[in-house]
Formats: sequence, structure tokens, C-alpha cells
Amino acid sequence: MRHLMSPMDFSVEELDALMDLAVDIEKEPAKYAHKCDGRILATCFYEPSTRTRLSFESAMLRLGGKVLGFATADSSSAAKGESVSDTIRIISSYADICAMRHPKEGAPMVAASKSWIPVINAGDGGHQHPTQTLTDLMTIRSLKGSLSDMTIGLCGDLKFGRTVHSLINALCRYENVKFVFISPPELRIPDYIREDVLIKNNIEFKEVIKLDDVMPELDILYMTRVQRERFFNEEDYVRLKDFYILNKEKMALAKKDMMVLHPLPRVNEISVEVDDDERAMYFKQVRYGMYIRMALILTLLDLAS
Ligand code: NCD
Repeated sequence: MRHLMSPMDFSVEELDALMDLAVDIEKEPAKYAHKCDGRILATCFYEPSTRTRLSFESAMLRLGGKVLGFATADSSSAAKGESVSDTIRIISSYADICAMRHPKEGAPMVAASKSWIPVINAGDGGHQHPTQTLTDLMTIRSLKGSLSDMTIGLCGDLKFGRTVHSLINALCRYENVKFVFISPPELRIPDYIREDVLIKNNIEFKEVIKLDDVMPELDILYMTRVQRERFFNEEDYVRLKDFYILNKEKMALAKKDMMVLHPLPRVNEISVEVDDDERAMYFKQVRYGMYIRMALILTLLDLAS
């Protein structure tokens, strides 16, 4: 039995196979419409979500399966003090696969260690968000044709943004990928990513504060929201929340084929005027997220072939 905790749980070849499967599902959905007949997905979400939970549910329904679960910790027995280890044992009797989001780093991993069904980390605190990374990889591969030879700028809350941490991990395995980290000094990438992932693997990167200066070099700009829920005080959040606002003026500095991605939800960091720019890909990105989750469910349930 296999779980997904981090994008590194899959080799580059396995990721390719997963993306190929997602492409095929998008092309021929009818072929997959009954693959999960009789199977149940549980979504156990201890933290808010729109896209991740609903795209998992949509993915399972489109495969012919059924879904159950909870969307907030206070509507589950967590509110009565039940541990994640106990909850997953219960869920294991009711469902065939589980997607779990939790505010505590490592909670889905604890669940996986006690589970009798595959567990997917749907976001654990400020740590990892592997299925968002699968979505991002699929978007880049589909729209740019490859995951190699590019300069990617990641902008915003690089400290608490789990999507950023997972994406850096995953992209380090491709050829000639350079990173530009754009953040206020307080929200720089964590030391463990800088040292254990980037420096250790000899990956080219730089860290800057101003977005305008680096705009012309980027092939991809990955914008992120300042993660309010992970701040210790509201004052710091208010001071930093509008540090970056991507607008038409800034887009004018970018390459003609630069691509703007965002895991969403957006708050203020991308002005709505950018939505009409043909380089704005964040709404398209959402759709890839559903197909790649369909491919993931099939793979973890061993129903892919
Ligand atoms: C992200 C998350 O939950 O980490 N959202 C998502 O799943 N697409 C990004 C965010 O909340 O800022």
C-alpha cells in the first residue's frame, strides 16, 4: 500500500506516468467514468479548503466512486479530543482511500502510519502540499511542454507557503531549473529548504525583495498569498499582506510568454486586471488539479491499468 506525503514519494518517471494518465483522462473521460465504481474516498479536512477538497471529491465522482468526510475539525470527533491515529483507523473501515488536510505539520504522516488505506497529504500546516505540486507540474508541463530549462520566480510568503516548499522540492529534480525567490525579509524560504534542498543539490537560486527588477528574467511567476493563519500576530500580517501586488504595469516588464501561476485562493497579491492577460494561467491550473487527482486516486488504488 502506498501513501502520498511529499512529491518526493514519486520518482520523476512515476510523476511522468501520472501526468500522462491525467492527460489521457482529460482526452477520454468516458474510459475512466466507472473505474472507481464501488469505491469510497474520505476527505478529512481539519483546515479550510475550497479547491483541494472539492477537486478530490469531483475527481472521485467522475471516476464513478463515492465520497464522504468532514470539512472542519469542529464537525468531527477531533472536537471531542479524538487523535488523528484513532480517526484514521475508523475511516479505514468506511473508505478505500483518504485525503487529509491538517494544521499540524506531519499529522497526515502519523495517520498514514496507522492507516489500512492509502492516505494523501492534502496540506499539513506550513510544511507540504504534494497534490498542489502535482497540479503545478502538470500545468507547467502541459503549457510549456517541459519541466526543464526554466527560471521560476516564487513570490510572496515563502516561509509559511507549503505549496512553495513542495514545488521547490519537486522542481529540483529537473534539468537546468533556476529559482528566484521574491519575498520580504521576514517571509524568506525556511533554512532547511535553502540548505538541505537547494545548496545540497547545487541548484542555482537567488533571493530578492523587489519583484520589478527580476520580472524580465522569469519564465514562470508563481504568486502566493500571505498565510494569515500561520502568523503569530495580526500586526505583522497587516504589515506584510500587500507587500506585492501584481498588476498590468508589472506584467508589462515580463516576457511575452511568461506564465503566471497561483495555487489560489488569491487575496490582493494579483490585481483582477491581470486576469484577462493571456499569460494568467491560475484558473486553468485549477482544472489540471482535478485531472491529476483522478490519476492519483487510480494509481494509489492500483486501478490505473
Ligand atoms: C493552498 C494551501 O492550502 O496551501 N491552497 C490550495 O490548496 N490551493 C494555498 C493557500 O492557501 O494559500
